Amino acid sequence: MIPTVRPRRRRTTPAMRRLTAETRLHPAELILPMFVREGLSEPRGIASMPGVRQHTLDSLRRAAVDAAAAGIGGVMLFGIPERRDADGSAGDDPEGILNVATRAVVAEVGDALVVQTDLCLDEFTDHGHCGVLSPTGAVDNDATLERYRAVAVAQAEAGSALLGLSGMMDGQVAAVRDALDAAGHQDTGVLAYSAKYASAFYGPFREAVDSQLGADPAASGDRRSYQQDPANRREGLRETELDLAEGADIVMVKPAGSYLDVLADVAATSPVPVWAYQVSGEAAMIEAAATNGWIDRRRVIEESVLGIKRAGADAILSYFAVELAGWIR
Ligand code: PBG
Repeated sequence: MIPTVRPRRRRTTPAMRRLTAETRLHPAELILPMFVREGLSEPRGIASMPGVRQHTLDSLRRAAVDAAAAGIGGVMLFGIPERRDADGSAGDDPEGILNVATRAVVAEVGDALVVQTDLCLDEFTDHGHCGVLSPTGAVDNDATLERYRAVAVAQAEAGSALLGLSGMMDGQVAAVRDALDAAGHQDTGVLAYSAKYASAFYGPFREAVDSQLGADPAASGDRRSYQQDPANRREGLRETELDLAEGADIVMVKPAGSYLDVLADVAATSPVPVWAYQVSGEAAMIEAAATNGWIDRRRVIEESVLGIKRAGADAILSYFAVELAGWIR
């Protein structure tokens, strides 16, 4: 049997492969998550995230300039405060580290990047949960919404262009939209982490933000009463529909690599941009395997992000954003 249909014809040369590629990456659709820690005098490495650092205000500013020079689309800022309390009050304090850092980065890069902020309480609470607790110790949804409203206004006032709502409280998009509009911040956008799963892939992030939950493995961050069950696919669409109805400007699926089916579902129906977050554990696995010489680091990074794009992401948050932009430019 001699085949008459030969798909290999289209793969014969690099030029042919390049011309017929269905998906390609562009620096403008990459977003770099960055960490800034209050009271640091020198940037500090994060053991489980090689190449990622807890920044000082100064090193954050410089890294943001480098990110803009690399041509990426934006940065997502996370703050690590010196002091935490039950309500996460550093989150809406104008002098809280994330708000100070946002002002500094916006002043430095202007409109060259979309400067975005994580809107959650886990970085700011002493118990490490994404919301405030009721007397029984449960995460209190509606009391948390009040806190998110205050944090949202503080972040908008600091100059964040897009608030990344990652807490998975019911009604959070509507609450934040209402608070922003009431405070005159109609132009501040809402990026809804719509389908956010209770994932073990966030492991290294806990080290990155010194989360209290992460510090004690015995108490380790059980967020399953608010983040989604990894078993559920339809529910990702349900959460997305709710966030759209509440006014989300952009929706996100997180993590990315193990949730490409959810991403494809959301991308197939969403009338707004769909983003995906290649999270800390996804990056850490690549780094660990590459360090062992088991995989080709660059090719795996490119392939993993390309796969997320192919599944339907319009933009991707990745710890490799700047490095990857340098390769694909
Ligand atoms: C919540 C938040 C988390 C991440 C981003 N925002 C942690 C969590 O929800 O448990 C994880 C990101 C990563 O793992 O890279 N503020």
